[in-house]
Amino acid sequence: MNKYVLWNGKILDQDDKEVSVSYEDRGYQFGDGVYEVIRIYQGAIHLLDWHLDRLFYSMKEIDIVPPFTREQLIEQLRDVIKANQFQADGKLYIQVTRGEQPRDHLYEPNLQAVYYAIVTPFEKPVDMWENGVTVMLQEDIRWLRCDIKSLNLLPNVMARTTAQKNGYDEPLFYRDGIVRECGASNFFLVKDQALVTHPTDHHILGGITRKQVIRLAKELGIPVYEREIDLNELEKAHECFLTATPLEIVPITQIDEKKMNGGAFGPITKKLFRYYQEKIPEDLFSV
Ligand SMILES: Cc1ncc(COP(=O)(O)O)c(C=O)c1O
Repeated sequence: MNKYVLWNGKILDQDDKEVSVSYEDRGYQFGDGVYEVIRIYQGAIHLLDWHLDRLFYSMKEIDIVPPFTREQLIEQLRDVIKANQFQADGKLYIQVTRGEQPRDHLYEPNLQAVYYAIVTPFEKPVDMWENGVTVMLQEDIRWLRCDIKSLNLLPNVMARTTAQKNGYDEPLFYRDGIVRECGASNFFLVKDQALVTHPTDHHILGGITRKQVIRLAKELGIPVYEREIDLNELEKAHECFLTATPLEIVPITQIDEKKMNGGAFGPITKKLFRYYQEKIPEDLFSV
């Protein structure tokens, strides 16, 4: 299983000599590239269209010439899943870097982008669902294009490490007194039976799970407000949760010292969580 990778349009054995990156790849040197993480359920791809929209958006925003058309990529993703006979729950990782050239900040126009995709098994994060996660507030020192799913994740890497060193699971970023998002997930707060989450702009990644949760909340008749959340509002929140492709919906049990909802799934979070699970089969793309 996972023996085969999609490598620049070809399905290759992962041990094939061709599966290697040049030291002059701009992704290697500058993190000059973008990526996607997509959930696979029983071998089928979840919310593929939205993920592809975001991948093409990320490439466009940093001026990478896509090395595939949308249809070609879909076909190749199918091929890599099929080649691995992958029918379990897993993750599909896709990465596109700008390509290779002698090291220079300035990029050459029309470089041949380098890309790959792999499928890896992923078990449902049952422990997190049952016990939730704790988050540590940290100042958001990332660049102001967090809407691009760029490979440059150093601030996120350092923030997660700081959180863990301090006994927390995840960072929760704030900037200018406004709560933005977590280190690798979006943040939601529940107040008076309604959801509040940061609007999609350059301060956060427009999460696919966030988008799905908003859609499903509306179907359930739960009001959703996409607006900035002041740090002071955290005190008064009834429930908080995070959303991310691998984790789906995870309750936040503690923010800094403050315990939320007695450390368990709140009623609204639970309702959304169940509905999210129920709806998964409707958004699957079979290969
Ligand atoms: C910074 C950040 N925000 C939010 C998300 C959640 O996005 P999605 O729901 O598309 O996985 C991620 C996922 O990796 C992320 O890195």
